[in-house]
Amino acid sequence: MSAVADGSGKARVVVAAPLPDDLRRRLAEQCTIVADLGAVVKREDFEASLRNADGVLTTIRNRIDENLLDRNPRLRVVSNVAVGLDNIDPAAASRHGVTVCNTPGVLDGAVADLAMLLMLGVARRVRQSDAHLRNGTWLSRPVDLGTDVSGKTLGLLGLGRIGRAVAQRARAFDMRVISYDPHPGPACDVPLVDREQLFREADFVSLHCPLTSETQRSVGAAEFKLMKPSAVLINTARGAIVDQAALLEALEKGTIAGAGLDVMEREPLAPDDPLCKLDNVLLLPHIGSATVETRRAMTEIAVSNLLAALRPGGGSSAGSVDIA
Ligand code: DGY
Repeated sequence: MSAVADGSGKARVVVAAPLPDDLRRRLAEQCTIVADLGAVVKREDFEASLRNADGVLTTIRNRIDENLLDRNPRLRVVSNVAVGLDNIDPAAASRHGVTVCNTPGVLDGAVADLAMLLMLGVARRVRQSDAHLRNGTWLSRPVDLGTDVSGKTLGLLGLGRIGRAVAQRARAFDMRVISYDPHPGPACDVPLVDREQLFREADFVSLHCPLTSETQRSVGAAEFKLMKPSAVLINTARGAIVDQAALLEALEKGTIAGAGLDVMEREPLAPDDPLCKLDNVLLLPHIGSATVETRRAMTEIAVSNLLAALRPGGGSSAGSVDIA
């Protein structure tokens, strides 16, 4: 079935995400691709491309807000190639009758793997050892020993799909897992504790909640004070869940021992950011879902969502909008 008709009989779409050729062909069979912008696009180019577009396939780098929707009244579908929807103002989208789609479920394993990698990497001081080796220092017995993760407590802030995938992996590493989630999903065998207990007891605190007005900067100075001085913060969710200035201070003063961050308050992180100078922080450039298999699965779902939502009466049959 073709998408909603315009003069040419096809819906008009903008692609603002990397798109493999076969998926581009699939989209082009049913829609007219009016702009193919790739992953990195300037705000003004993104906005300009949306004039007269019915739908857009986008990464989370592009903000969809009231102003943009006011200026592009024809836009009816935003299909995010992401599980997170924090680049989109949900109230504005609903006021403008815009259907919003995401790609839950297919990236849980990849993000959970990366959370484990950061945890192990910080615990075993991988960054420092790699740097020593490249500087010509062979430290087979590093002065500054790492720590085991086995036998330690992992506190998951958020027990959705990704949190659960991390729990499964952490248990294989003989970790004790506890969680705090104010909106717990289906019952599972990870014990829920209160928020304060999570920060006090965990040796590693890993964030797995969505960025919302409720969670924005919800991990800050007060939480770092509750944590053990030996504890490590892991963030593969969204940078703005953490008060980054407070984190920097906690890391500099030794209030907590370290951090592994795949996401930052402001991305990309400037290379001269003070976080980059700290020895006890492992930093990655938001690559939680960045594997060939996972990105392929996300893009397939996002294209299907876009096509489904553009069909007449298709708004409600589009992909779900829940967040792991
Ligand atoms: C997501 O899916 O929300 C990721 O953070 C984007 O890669």
